[in-house]
Amino acid sequence: MHDNPTADSRSTPIDGTGRTALVTGAGRGLGATLTTLLCARGWNVVATSRSGDELAAVAGKLNAEGPGRVVAIPGDVCDPGHRARLVAEAGALPGFGIVVNNAALMGVSPIAPLLEAPVDVYRRVMETNVVAPLALIRESVPHLGSGSLIVNISSESAVQAFPCAGVYGASKAAMDQAGRILALELAEAGIGVVAVDPGDMGTRMYAEAEPGADLSALPSPESTLPFWHWLLGRHPTDVSGGRFLAQEHTR
Ligand SMILES: NC(=O)c1ccc[n+]([C@@H]2O[C@H](COP(=O)([O-])OP(=O)(O)OC[C@H]3O[C@@H](n4cnc5c(N)ncnc54)[C@H](OP(=O)(O)O)[C@@H]3O)[C@@H](O)[C@H]2O)c1
Repeated sequence: MHDNPTADSRSTPIDGTGRTALVTGAGRGLGATLTTLLCARGWNVVATSRSGDELAAVAGKLNAEGPGRVVAIPGDVCDPGHRARLVAEAGALPGFGIVVNNAALMGVSPIAPLLEAPVDVYRRVMETNVVAPLALIRESVPHLGSGSLIVNISSESAVQAFPCAGVYGASKAAMDQAGRILALELAEAGIGVVAVDPGDMGTRMYAEAEPGADLSALPSPESTLPFWHWLLGRHPTDVSGGRFLAQEHTR
């Protein structure tokens, strides 16, 4: 396990040219930033979020710029039919090789003590942040070749207990552990699985968690870009099982 990038053995980058990635929560925030980065590196991206307008804006801009293309498929990752469509689309495109589980739900706005949240919120957060990403991985793996990479977006609240981190923190911890298990189970297939804590970012998720917070004082999702360039320059099996702190990446 690594909390930060260290020396790696092979450093064989995943070449994105003409290949395909699947990114959830791509309509804004970190997911939009990652989609932009992947397209700039030549990846085609099957992108999803519930808001079709936000997704269309991201896709329209990136499809005008290239070189990668965005296939925008709006919908909810909790919907099995939607997930099947995403995977069918990604699997039919050349070189499906990256899955980014980025879409997530905080559950309550503003954040509040765990026991104050309705039980239904526990269910929705676990469904969005754990069940749906695991199902997406399960459905994607048969299409992923050796040298593919699965990225689960984590949070500091997965490893630190904060008051009001709520079931969100528990869901991120659960997904971290599921990712570590999958990293072992998928090693033979040559598929890497990593968890990435992007750090605090001034996005809508943060604004909804802490209404009134000064978002301009927080780092933007773009602050994580050096880390993503580093990660995409590694061979997935060299980093598999790792948990990375994107904003603490220094080279
Ligand atoms: N912001 C932070 O400070 C921070 C810190 C640590 C970790 N993170 C993690 O970083 C990731 C990205 O968060 P962000 O800050 O960029 O949040 P954001 O700006 O609110 O973006 C979240 C994205 O996920 C989509 N989404 C949410 N639920 C979905 C669902 N059920 N199906 C499909 N798409 C869904 C949203 O679109 P729709 O609402 O239109 O569906 C949106 O595109 C999350 O995993 C979050 O836990 C964020």
